[in-house]
Amino acid sequence: MYTPESTRYDNMVYRRCGKSGLKLSAISLGMWHNFGGYDRFENSRAIVRKCFDLGITHFDLANNYGPPAGSAEETFGKILKDDFAGLRDELVISTKAGYGMWPGPYGDWGSRKYLISSLDQSLNRLGIPYVDIFYHHRPDPETPLEETMDALVSIVRQGKALYVGLSNYSAEDTKKASSMLKGMGVKCLIHQPKYSMFVRNPENGLQEVLEEEGMGSIAFSPLAQGLLTNKYFNGIPEDSRAAGKSVFLNPEAVTPDKVEISKKLNEIAAERGQSLAQMALAWVLRNPVTTSVLIGASKTIQVEENVKALNNLEFTAEELTRIDSILGK
Ligand SMILES: NC(=O)c1ccc[n+]([C@@H]2O[C@H](COP(=O)([O-])OP(=O)(O)OC[C@H]3O[C@@H](n4cnc5c(N)ncnc54)[C@H](OP(=O)(O)O)[C@@H]3O)[C@@H](O)[C@H]2O)c1
Repeated sequence: MYTPESTRYDNMVYRRCGKSGLKLSAISLGMWHNFGGYDRFENSRAIVRKCFDLGITHFDLANNYGPPAGSAEETFGKILKDDFAGLRDELVISTKAGYGMWPGPYGDWGSRKYLISSLDQSLNRLGIPYVDIFYHHRPDPETPLEETMDALVSIVRQGKALYVGLSNYSAEDTKKASSMLKGMGVKCLIHQPKYSMFVRNPENGLQEVLEEEGMGSIAFSPLAQGLLTNKYFNGIPEDSRAAGKSVFLNPEAVTPDKVEISKKLNEIAAERGQSLAQMALAWVLRNPVTTSVLIGASKTIQVEENVKALNNLEFTAEELTRIDSILGK
């Protein structure tokens, strides 16, 4: 039986998601890795409990997270049922559809047929009647944008999602999609881009669009999957994502250049009284257009460390200039 910490709301920061009524914890947990059917359930459960005890209220999924695809939603569904039965209203649960999920022409991309049936499957796996946020996971170059946005509106009208969001959309497509949704009477709550000290594309127009549209933003892979931590300073540890089975980070991605840059960034972090991971998260949160950073974790201790990023979110102009120069900006 799980009893959450009574102190759970004492230290977390909650930030308003664009011009909406919804606040998100400044740190959110994503279940792309470490929550699949092949992962140790007790560890996944411990990470979710630890997050909630530290004030993390927002949990992010997608239809295809696992492996196998769908199993992260099943894992979280079981944790919800066993541990969070009376706590659903304290949680913000997100899921997405947009990548390949089942065979044939209806299990991928952005058609109405795919999005609505995929969300029904997700709700079944999660064992809940609605999610808080449903995202279109990536733009579809073939399906008319009107059809995809109309499907998101239907999902809200059906009560299967409270809010909708977009992920991996360009600045231009975000603007178009947001105006379309507004025209249909539904506001686009949030955008989920990849954003970290190593990946800065959202600075090239997307962040401006989000401000103009009053949308929030949640940065995924803010630690560059672990490269922006001290974990690869002395080689590739056996229990790391780069050494494991993930196809998304292989040992070749841990280049000497990247490790060298991280070591230099770590010196600034140390001067700030932070670990590199903490500074990397604080850096992403420095711009108010970023509502939350969406971290992954393989161990509870990482969540404990990362949440402490909130103890120092301020950067001096000099620190930012030094960081930019290390990053070659
Ligand atoms: N919308 C999209 O297209 C999209 C794409 C990708 C991800 N996402 C979302 O973003 C979430 C986070 O992505 P991510 O997992 O790549 O995020 P990340 O926070 O950049 O990387 C997380 C990984 O870094 C390592 N780590 C975390 N804290 C650490 C610490 N304090 N010290 C040392 N290592 C630490 C762990 O890996 P080890 O296993 O090495 O310990 C952890 O699993 C996903 O779960 C998903 O919800 C969305």
